Amino acid sequence: MTVTTHPHFVAAIDQGTTSTRCVIFDRAGQPVGMGQFEHSQIFPQKGWVEHDPLEIWTNTRRAVGAALAEANIAREDIVAIGITNQRETTVVWDKHTGEPVMNAIVWQDTRTTEICEQLAGDVGHDRWRDRTGLLLNSYPAGPKLKWILENVPGARERAQRGDLLFGTIDTWLLWNLTGGAQGDEGQPAVHATDVTNASRTLLMDLHTLQWDEQICQEMGIPLAMLPTIRPSVTQFGHVRQRGSLGGVPITGILGDQQAAMFGQCCFQPGDAKNTYGTGLFLLLNTGLVPKQSNHGMITTVCYQIEDEQPVYALEGSVAVGGALVQWLRDNLGIIESAAEIEQSASQVADNGGVYIVPAFSGLFAPRWRTDARGVIVGLTRFANKHHLARAVLEATAYQTREVVEAMVADSGVPLRTLRVDGGMVANDLLMQFQADILQTPVVRPGMIETTVLGAAFAAGLGVGFFESTEQLRAFAKSDKQWDPMLPRETTDHLYAEWNKAVQRTLNWEE
Ligand SMILES: Nc1ncnc2c1ncn2[C@@H]1O[C@H](COP(=O)(O)OP(=O)(O)OP(=O)(O)O)[C@@H](O)[C@H]1O
Ligand SMILES: [Mg+2]
Repeated sequence: MTVTTHPHFVAAIDQGTTSTRCVIFDRAGQPVGMGQFEHSQIFPQKGWVEHDPLEIWTNTRRAVGAALAEANIAREDIVAIGITNQRETTVVWDKHTGEPVMNAIVWQDTRTTEICEQLAGDVGHDRWRDRTGLLLNSYPAGPKLKWILENVPGARERAQRGDLLFGTIDTWLLWNLTGGAQGDEGQPAVHATDVTNASRTLLMDLHTLQWDEQICQEMGIPLAMLPTIRPSVTQFGHVRQRGSLGGVPITGILGDQQAAMFGQCCFQPGDAKNTYGTGLFLLLNTGLVPKQSNHGMITTVCYQIEDEQPVYALEGSVAVGGALVQWLRDNLGIIESAAEIEQSASQVADNGGVYIVPAFSGLFAPRWRTDARGVIVGLTRFANKHHLARAVLEATAYQTREVVEAMVADSGVPLRTLRVDGGMVANDLLMQFQADILQTPVVRPGMIETTVLGAAFAAGLGVGFFESTEQLRAFAKSDKQWDPMLPRETTDHLYAEWNKAVQRTLNWEE
């Protein structure tokens, strides 16, 4: 008699800023099915960005169903689920009904600037940096939660009575997957998060990996509404029995940038990657030590595997990367699709002296200037739309160099190659220019969807589907490398011009 081994798979949910995806992977780390749905971007007023958490939860179920259908497999074939998510985005809901008290406040939202200034006081935005690794600005989740408690009528009282729960998107999905308000077969739904997501709240002590009670108290946040902090790779719970993945264990959760580190197999100190999506996110694995930056980086948890020590990272977050390409497409109409920018930019040999600095919501890393606003400089009668297209792509490369230089200054480790991923790395012109501006080779992996891959890796490790991080390294094949071609004098000159352009953005908003 022949024994047929059952084909097994892991499912990963990638709940991103613009869409929700589910991808199913086989044992060789290859995708076999995918479902993806976009959700609405809600802009109630200037600087505010919201998502509907119920729409996101519906899209998650739809994406899972579509991925199963495309792979043509049943839930019995899935051994584990991983979740990765847009970070910092904040949801508060009623635990008896599952109803959010308002829309989710998205990471890009700047409404908490004032709350943060008050909390920073005379000490400044470094106030809780030693303890949390973060700067007190509109980016982290904690002040968004404080804003909700202060501005949604009745929210503070309901939170104090123990009726409301807080979560970043991972927590919101985990709670719903494990049964929501009904729970599952007598068990309440799981209210937990992983260390990487918790490290983006400004409420977690980076050293103890526990909620910092003093910070929570000062922000007026009841501890009872916060999720339990767990390692990234652990048994979080099971999907409720009647769900489309009923009974499948959830064994990996990572914030999206940390998941990309995992997907790129950046497991060793000194390993780094840059993700080119809506924003740009460069992370450097610093090993078991949470290093403090002196050059505008933030300190974050990279991942933690159950029964192992946490691994930390330095991170340079740039708010506007691919979003500038979307702006060129949607606000100026110079291109029709994001991909078209490459064709347009390649019509001209250089930027014609034009620079665009996309300080749309101030400048993030490494400068952190809330007073900055965007500029286009160097215009002459000669400049045309192709120069603008080129300046858009170049802005991404210059911003990356700024972060790389800061990261190198902090770590003392020179960058030998830059591993890249995300939607923009399909753009060859950009990747070549990036290698030129950095004077360093740029390497793209075979699987550029490293975020969702990382969540699958984590979940698979959690059930022994993948044995070890060493085994995962074998999947990490590189696909293409770009080597510097322009002489250093040329690129140094361009970069100096860029710096002049950045100076023009400062002290704009008063
Ligand atoms: N060929 C291209 N050239 C330049 N930019 C591109 C190209 N294709 C896509 N982009 C940009 O890449 C971004 C999308 O990348 P990606 O899907 O990685 O984003 P993301 O931030 O991960 O989104 P989400 O948060 O929803 O997951 C968009 O901003 C888009 O403008
Ligand atoms: Mg993403």
